[in-house]
Amino acid sequence: MNKKLLSLLLIGLLTVFGLMLVGCGGDDTTTDETEATEDTMTDDTATEDTTTEDTTTEDTEAAATSGDVEYTIKFAHVVAENTPKGQAAIEFARLASEKTNGRVEVEVYPNSQLYNDDEAIEALQLGTIHLAAPSFSKFTGFVKEMQVVDLPFLFESVEQSREAFAGPMGEFLNQKLADSNIMLLAAWDNGFKQLTNNRGPINTPADAENLKFRVQESDVLVSQMQAWGASAEPMAFSEVYNALEQGVIDAQENTYSNTYSQNYQDVQDYLTESNHGLIAYAVVTNPDFWNGLPEDIRTALDEAMAEATEYNSTVAGEINDENKQQLVDAGMELNEMDEEGLQAFRDASYPVWDEYSDVFGEELMTILEDYRQ
Ligand code: SIN
Repeated sequence: MNKKLLSLLLIGLLTVFGLMLVGCGGDDTTTDETEATEDTMTDDTATEDTTTEDTTTEDTEAAATSGDVEYTIKFAHVVAENTPKGQAAIEFARLASEKTNGRVEVEVYPNSQLYNDDEAIEALQLGTIHLAAPSFSKFTGFVKEMQVVDLPFLFESVEQSREAFAGPMGEFLNQKLADSNIMLLAAWDNGFKQLTNNRGPINTPADAENLKFRVQESDVLVSQMQAWGASAEPMAFSEVYNALEQGVIDAQENTYSNTYSQNYQDVQDYLTESNHGLIAYAVVTNPDFWNGLPEDIRTALDEAMAEATEYNSTVAGEINDENKQQLVDAGMELNEMDEEGLQAFRDASYPVWDEYSDVFGEELMTILEDYRQ
């Protein structure tokens, strides 16, 4: 082959390869894990925007133009952007850029684009991503005490849960996470879980009997469903819609915002307001990564996290209230459980507390006595 032909062939191959790379970058559902394995300290500017639909993204980009990106932080989570966690993550990204004059860029990967929660915790420990915010339940396999938040009827209000996270319960869990080399940066909340199913309104535990509920991967939640006479199928969040559609499960428990943003209203008819348990998030990082950041950057990120946490508290209730109405407007039949029904559920749930008192230990159980309903 002559030289000219050879160089044309090479140029052709390089062009095709280049186009393939551009194509991959444009598809947010195929965000590549290799991208997340790049060094966190980058000279280049952002390659991908995962928050395309939100106006806050423009603010982030505007702030980022004032300086070159030196640190890229990958933040993976599993829910939609229009949820309390999705919005708080976007807000954190905006604040992080603003407070560091664009030196930090937080790339937010919502909707399990990179990982489900179990994988995200492992990726965080390996340093493949730098921030994650799984619900407390998802840490069960790593720090068993984290599923304490799943004990049915633990908190009466979201405000009370915030106090608990800021008090001795939060300190206890923080220490347990630290023992597993996971650093807790903040606790965000979503709201209380409600029940959906396709059989009929749930007013007492008898109405839940023999329903197969999807639960998060938490032993406490499996026990809770069994205590109600139902069965439990632990499953990753990203698999729930299909499982409901195909009848692999016939019920699920989640907040209004997760239910609405995942379109469960298309495959579930009945919605029961039970407020029996909380979905809250542990916003976590890898301590080696976080402590390795320069002090001024860390201070700015701590401030950004504190403000994003405040923002999360403000929007969580609003989003859930709005989504509750949207679920009804979409045709779900809503019943709000009365006090008698709730008491029947509480009574059915107390054995779960007894079952886990040894697992969680006396110190934690004593702390919980201040909250137990
Ligand atoms: C989430 O809110 O992060 C998902 C919770 C779930 O798996 O149900």
